[in-house]
Amino acid sequence: MSSLLARQRTHTCNDLTKADLGQAVVLMGWVQSNRDHHGRIFVDLRDRHGLTQLVFKPETSTALRDRAEKLGREYCIGVRGIVEDRAANGGSSNPRLKSGEVEISIVELEVFNESAVPPFLIEDGIDTNEEKRLEYRTLDLRRPRLQKNLAVRHRIMQATRRHFDDNGFLELETPLLVKYTPGGARNFLVPSRLNPGKFYALAESPQLYKQMFMMAGLDRYFQIVKCFRDEDLRGDRQPEFTQIDVEMSWATETVVQTMIEGLVARIFKDVHGIELERPFQRMTFDEAMARYGVDKPDLRFGMEHVDLTAALRALDGGGVALFKGALDSGGIVKAMVIPAKHELSRTEVDKLEDEVKKLGGKGLARCRIAEDGKGWTQSPLSKTITPEAQAKVTDMTGAQPGDVIVFQFGKAHVVHTVLGGLRVHLRDKLKLVAHDDAGVSKSWRVLWVTDFPLFEHDEERNAYVAAHHPFTSPQAGHEDKLLSDPAACRARAYDLVLNGNEVGGGSIRIHDATVQAKVFEALGISDEDKQKKFGFLLEALRYGCPPHGGIALGLDRLCMLLCGGTSLREVIAYPKTQKGTDLLTDAPTGVSDKQLQELFIASTAKAE
Ligand code: AMO
Repeated sequence: MSSLLARQRTHTCNDLTKADLGQAVVLMGWVQSNRDHHGRIFVDLRDRHGLTQLVFKPETSTALRDRAEKLGREYCIGVRGIVEDRAANGGSSNPRLKSGEVEISIVELEVFNESAVPPFLIEDGIDTNEEKRLEYRTLDLRRPRLQKNLAVRHRIMQATRRHFDDNGFLELETPLLVKYTPGGARNFLVPSRLNPGKFYALAESPQLYKQMFMMAGLDRYFQIVKCFRDEDLRGDRQPEFTQIDVEMSWATETVVQTMIEGLVARIFKDVHGIELERPFQRMTFDEAMARYGVDKPDLRFGMEHVDLTAALRALDGGGVALFKGALDSGGIVKAMVIPAKHELSRTEVDKLEDEVKKLGGKGLARCRIAEDGKGWTQSPLSKTITPEAQAKVTDMTGAQPGDVIVFQFGKAHVVHTVLGGLRVHLRDKLKLVAHDDAGVSKSWRVLWVTDFPLFEHDEERNAYVAAHHPFTSPQAGHEDKLLSDPAACRARAYDLVLNGNEVGGGSIRIHDATVQAKVFEALGISDEDKQKKFGFLLEALRYGCPPHGGIALGLDRLCMLLCGGTSLREVIAYPKTQKGTDLLTDAPTGVSDKQLQELFIASTAKAE
């Protein structure tokens, strides 16, 4: 065994300070940089903790100095030396590094491995395209930012385990190869070689298993668990992601929420040293939609929506044919004010129309309030709107001279999507919330959104689908409306929203087999299918099922927000691309016909 490995490292690259002057130390790591300064070789040594400067002096050993001169970037080395004062050696200290006041005068160098020239610099803020970085993920992961993100992820996981252990929860595992059950996200399918023509699904969540844990009397469960969903991917969605999954017997909404508030507070304290105010704010789904047009409002800034529907209906559209048309066909009219202080030019306001189209809107009706505080300029609306309607809108929106009012009208869900999306777009464009240099938000707004509808109407299929999942309990008194008026049923469901991101969702579950069967019926699942797909659950519900409820938090999303990232790929060690591929290993790949035959599968895909 080489001598330095036998000695092991004594410190990391972020440990040593002037308090250690004169100590003999052993460090291991990678060569970040190498420069010759008046015959001395200075090497920055990097490990996951930080950087330490090494100095190879010719007066110690010319042979050693000459070997050091040949050290290339990313060589993996071990060194032994003495801690010295940079300033006393004639150098200057680096106040940005913990070990910036010292350097190690090296007496022994061991090269564990040389390195080919890396395809990009191992530094933060480098302008390398993401594909390249994902392809060379091992090198990319050496970057301080990613190492820090993964350390944050670790801290979240440890805080989670401590919190639930302290509160009497059991960490239990559930199968990943599960029965395919329809209704949720699209599943990945796994062929069963031993059962020709049959498939497992990869679990999209442990939902039914955790409920069955409650039926089994295990009463407090949690798991940090991988979930798989074959969805269209976005920055905040991965096909393979991690949930902090929780279930509690004898739970009410408040019991689950209080337990999760304790967890989130602990995570914030551990990661950022921040004390979150508790209890978290609560807002109903209806209120969130009315004020922000989304069920995950970002409360860090204003620009709330104003509902003009009733006022304009009372004025028969107020002289604006488009408003009247929307109202007559059962639509709504809403507005949002962009304050004058943001100094949006007319062209910039015009450009917002492109954004609106991307969000699915037809256009953006708008006006600017004139200097007198009453008149409207830059707007075709002002040609026909009645003075009464104009005054009413100006008054209801509270718009001041120079402010811009933007309008959306038509079907409620389109109005909400567009105006809600525009609010978020303006947040970023106008920099309405502050971030630190690492991109971490300077303010945190945590919110429970409650009282969700139980069902959503799927227009394409003209059928109701579960808004959360089909095991969510209707609110008291709503059981009777399950079949007669599904749209009016409210759920005992809640989402946890952090700075405008859905970081968790859960509910109190149905613990009554009759209600569960009725919900399946409302979802249009036939008696036969009910038994075939969910028979095991209905059966388990018959044997003294306790009232229970729970939640799952998206660990990746939470971690992304705490790290100041904008994509889950920044907090997942080995993520997939937008197209679901892994550029590091090149998965997914084709397989041979023989392998397919063994699985009794024939591919209809055209060879690329
Ligand atoms: P839900 O489907 O709302 O609930 O998921 C819970 C949380 O998981 C995160 N999440 C995702 N994160 C990354 N990529 C994805 N594709 C993805 N999909 C979801 C979100 C979300 O809030 N079984 C229920 C929970 C329960 O009722 O207890 C469930 O899975 O942050």
